Amino acid sequence: MDLAAGEGRDTLALLARGWRVLATDAEPAAFTYLWPRVPPAERDRLTTTVARFDDTALPPCDLVNASFALPFCAPPHLPPLWTRIVAAIRPGGRFAGQFFGDRDSWASRSDRTHHTLHEVEALLAGFDIEMLRIEERDDPPDVREPKHWHLFHVVARKNS
Ligand SMILES: C[S@@+](CC[C@H](N)C(=O)[O-])C[C@H]1O[C@@H](n2cnc3c(N)ncnc32)[C@H](O)[C@@H]1O
Repeated sequence: MDLAAGEGRDTLALLARGWRVLATDAEPAAFTYLWPRVPPAERDRLTTTVARFDDTALPPCDLVNASFALPFCAPPHLPPLWTRIVAAIRPGGRFAGQFFGDRDSWASRSDRTHHTLHEVEALLAGFDIEMLRIEERDDPPDVREPKHWHLFHVVARKNS
């Protein structure tokens, strides 16, 4: 499952590696950009669904990929969404994605969900954390609206 897949960068990579992919996003235009880029031979392994986090169905799966996605889930919706993500991943399956940290510039926005390292580790309690890389940096001053980035890049395997 590619949750909040956007224009499908990761969806395309997963399809190329042989996965069957359910890609979801709240923005319908995302999939109008994605579908023309899917090789014909891979199309029967892709399903796309337009849905917001709070009404996204999460069927049992071997991977939930949520690249730069969960921070855009409004804070009240994140705990139930995370519970459903954990329930959907089969034992031995994986979660991959980013959480945004508490020192990120966007942490002050009430519509974004940010976590401390301790909170991320608590969310992953039922997982073997295979990668947890912390990235913290400032944009160079010449980019539009420079910000401070505080990210946790995660790959974790659900315990059997
Ligand atoms: C930063 S983009 C990441 C897209 C893609 N995963 C990637 O890494 O290229 C965040 C995505 O979250 C989607 N999104 C934002 N709010 C959402 C919501 N409430 N429910 C579902 N998707 C949402 C946006 O449409 C956008 O495609």
